[in-house]
Amino acid sequence: MDVAGTQREAREQATLLSAFVGSATFWLLITTAVAVLLSFKFPFPDLATSPYLSFGRLRAIHTNGTFYAFASVALSGLAIYVAARSSGAPIYAKPVAWLSLGLFNVAALLGTVTLDLGMSDGSQEYREWLWWVRVILLVAAICSAYVVAGTVANRVERPIYIANWYTLGGFTFTTILWIVALIPTYQIGVGQVSVQAFYMHNAVGMWFTFLALGVTYYALPKLLNRPIYSYSLGVLAFWTNLVFYPIIGAHHYEFSPLPWWLQTLAIVFSVGMLIPVFAGSANLILTARGAWDVVRRSYALPFLAAGIVYYFLGSAQGTFEALRTAQAYWHFTSFTVGHSHATMYGFITFIVFGAVYALLPLATGKQPSTLLTGVHFWFALVGVTLYVLVLAIGGTIQGIDWASGNPFITSVEAAAPFWLARALGGTMMFLSHLLFAYNVYVMIGGKRPTLEPKAQPA
Ligand code: HEM
Repeated sequence: MDVAGTQREAREQATLLSAFVGSATFWLLITTAVAVLLSFKFPFPDLATSPYLSFGRLRAIHTNGTFYAFASVALSGLAIYVAARSSGAPIYAKPVAWLSLGLFNVAALLGTVTLDLGMSDGSQEYREWLWWVRVILLVAAICSAYVVAGTVANRVERPIYIANWYTLGGFTFTTILWIVALIPTYQIGVGQVSVQAFYMHNAVGMWFTFLALGVTYYALPKLLNRPIYSYSLGVLAFWTNLVFYPIIGAHHYEFSPLPWWLQTLAIVFSVGMLIPVFAGSANLILTARGAWDVVRRSYALPFLAAGIVYYFLGSAQGTFEALRTAQAYWHFTSFTVGHSHATMYGFITFIVFGAVYALLPLATGKQPSTLLTGVHFWFALVGVTLYVLVLAIGGTIQGIDWASGNPFITSVEAAAPFWLARALGGTMMFLSHLLFAYNVYVMIGGKRPTLEPKAQPA
């Protein structure tokens, strides 16, 4: 490609990445504003009693929205950008990438509005959006997958960079997962519970985890300016994740009518998950060994480092939580909600923040304020850590109350102060999102370029 062509391509990459990140940020604000209201409804149940603001509708708006309108859109945009940069190839089929972004937004809008009008596909967690809305979502993901695969296929060097292994793996598995979740014959009886176990956990483990690890494998060495610690550890983590993850979802249905052997297998494989988690997090942490000063001075690296630490802690917590003795107490309590935020927020959302701060300025040439980024980091980190800790304690007290046979209201009264503390942690997280949104605005639309823009090497 000639110089003018390279510059045009870099501009188009920057515009596409900006659009994905801008859209994801918009939905982050909407869906977590909803979550703050949700969290205050626990200590103050009479707050906002209109049907449109009821807990049942807003909870599904929050979970589906953070999953598919925020994290999926941000990670798809980042995956496309990483595919192009790491392959040294232009983004393949750009109109399809734009179509993907459009469809993600159509699905998010229709999914949110229909849920708020009380129309949902029932109590199937993370797939409450009506089936035809989820078809639109599926097509959006397939379009992004097509772009990533086509871009990697045009790579300059023969080996596929490890980042793209992960993102391509995520897109491939998720396409299968989302199709299975739509087939009507799988949605009845006990089979529906098995499919739900398969679906809800793999939405996290084979989609967000793969995409987040993929972009980290590109952003981390790039920012540290050194190669990844071990390619082999990365490959080991990739394949063992693929072996163990698909089965573990049934640990959410222990003591249920699901076959006992399936529940036991899910527990054994949950322990097996320690292998990819150890291998993956150690590989990423060792990549930064001896460079902690660089991490401290960067505004993007602390987010990636915190995300990797939460990946390890949240996943190890999940393994422990899967054991039957632990489930006997923690099942159905707020402890699990704390675990969900340790992983989906502490890990996935922090990696999204870090990757955006790492790659968007490289694409657009515009940097955010270091001070505001630092405040964003500390508000988000303190907020989520408070959130996870208080729910761990409150959830344990709830579980002990239930196991002791105390009246249900005793557990509610005991958990109430912890729910209030969770709402305060959540408010800090939301405030940090306002700063993030401002920083994204500066990185996309800021007046003055502060970096040498665009035509940097892959
Ligand atoms: C301001 C930040 C946030 C606040 C205040 C918040 C608050 C909440 C609340 C109150 C619930 C309902 C909990 C319950 O039913 O007991 C919830 C559920 C959930 N949220 Fe968030 N959330 C935030 C950010 C996020 C983000 C960014 C994600 C994902 C990327 C996320 C993923 C989830 C998931 C997966 C659940 C379901 C948890 C479960 O049932 O185990 N949240 N959140």
